[in-house]
Amino acid sequence: MRQPLIAGNWKMNLDLASGRSLVEGIRAGLAELTLPAGFEVAVCPPAVYLFPIAGAIDGSSLQLGAQDVFHETGGAFTGELAPAMIAETGARFVIIGHSERRHTIGHLEDDQMINRKVRAALAAGLTPILCVGEMLDEREAGRTFDVLTFQLSAGLIGVELDAPERLVVAYEPVWAIGTGRTATPQQAQEAHAHLRSLLQARFPKHADTVRILYGGSMKPDNAAALIGQPDVDGGLVGGASLKAESFLGIIRAALAAVG
Ligand code: PGA
Repeated sequence: MRQPLIAGNWKMNLDLASGRSLVEGIRAGLAELTLPAGFEVAVCPPAVYLFPIAGAIDGSSLQLGAQDVFHETGGAFTGELAPAMIAETGARFVIIGHSERRHTIGHLEDDQMINRKVRAALAAGLTPILCVGEMLDEREAGRTFDVLTFQLSAGLIGVELDAPERLVVAYEPVWAIGTGRTATPQQAQEAHAHLRSLLQARFPKHADTVRILYGGSMKPDNAAALIGQPDVDGGLVGGASLKAESFLGIIRAALAAVG
């Protein structure tokens, strides 16, 4: 059975002191819980805080993730970070293709760039959290599955998966991110089942064990119903990951959903 991954995406929030005290709070809360083997919790701070936060989680079960990575191994790419640099911080995960990078920030990442990043991350030993998700107009036009099919297939071109834990997929409907509007458990399950069927065609050996996270206004009070769905294997949490109490609330809800 798949155990959940709850990953906190801090985005461009918090300063170092508040990041450290958030980690302290999460550690204290986790110490009171018994998580089954394979149930994982990760924090994804801004890149400049990866090293110090790696120190702050040291000795705990918390995992570290980055929010992005570049696809080249080195060279004249001012401001970018190579996969090996991210790996050097101790990060195990890297979020790739987040909707804010696809649709909001700067040069707007396309699926080809996202695919390069996925392959480069894997080559450096990182586990990509590949984000896919439809925009509101795409959902309203009945194109959700088409968008998911395209983004997942494009993101995974040329990817060989040697073990299921080397890849995480996140379904993040763009209309639900930071809006307070969450996909219903049924909407999430339909999308996740579709993604699972694509993974089954692509990686028949591993598809049943690859984790597919839900992201988009996940909160302590909706997490159990979402994670209780058969193909929802955890959450990629933005806003609610910035306070220990709400992040822990989601972890507890996930625990109840799988327990
Ligand atoms: P949110 O963000 O939980 O604040 O909606 C989720 C995400 O963007 O990963």
